[in-house]
Amino acid sequence: MSLKDQILTDKLPNHVAIIMDGNGRWAKQRGMLRVLGHESGAKSVRDIVEASAEIGIKNLTLYAFSTENWKRPKLEVQTLMKLLVKSLKKEIKTLQENNIRLLAIGCLHDLPKKAHQELSEVIDKTKNNTHMTLTLALSYGSREEIVKVIKELTDKVKNNIISVESIDESIINKHLYTHDLPDVDLLIRTSGEQRISNFLLWQIAYAELYFTDILWPDFKKNDLYQALINYQNRERRFGKTSEQLS
Ligand code: FPP
Repeated sequence: MSLKDQILTDKLPNHVAIIMDGNGRWAKQRGMLRVLGHESGAKSVRDIVEASAEIGIKNLTLYAFSTENWKRPKLEVQTLMKLLVKSLKKEIKTLQENNIRLLAIGCLHDLPKKAHQELSEVIDKTKNNTHMTLTLALSYGSREEIVKVIKELTDKVKNNIISVESIDESIINKHLYTHDLPDVDLLIRTSGEQRISNFLLWQIAYAELYFTDILWPDFKKNDLYQALINYQNRERRFGKTSEQLS
């Protein structure tokens, strides 16, 4: 049986998030410039979006650029932004044909004007698509997101819009960038690193974590299927006992 056929479609994670890591090392191993690693990484993005939509995953979130990534060499940052614009222009047709809605989370106003414009345009054009939601985390940092939530809530308390007592998990969820998305069920990180790197700290509270040594440009459909099979073999207890679940 192929890997794809081993996936139980009624036990799919509702939300898969991916830390796409290893583009630089992939390029270095081949004696290439880091930017070529990112270009190759963009091909994996296409492959994984396609595989996720085919298999029926409803929400896919990709960590494309962190708030910390602005500290990278200027040329690399510029190339990543150009790659974003190029990919958006190229893939809008595929998103429409496959009924995929695009969202973005993060400090989007920090993006170069062109990237921000292109992004807003694709988000708007795909806003009524229903098969899958693809979210790009861009200039995203989870701590920044949490600080933003605290500021918005304290402001609302100060102006008597809400009371302190009314603050609960659902209000916090509503103020996160991810307010339109369910909690993450499966978080994948490629390249052998085993850390979260300021990604969706609140949203992964009960996510299953999956780490693989494969570098992002080498991560293809079968690798996603492998991660999904691994996920389906786990028991998610959400604090309960095994016996309670059965
Ligand atoms: C991490 O690899 C990757 C990134 C910081 C950027 C991810 C970007 C892409 C996959 C390109 C295209 C994305 C879109 C949405 C079109 P790294 O550079 O940190 O690798 P390293 O740890 O080996 O140096």
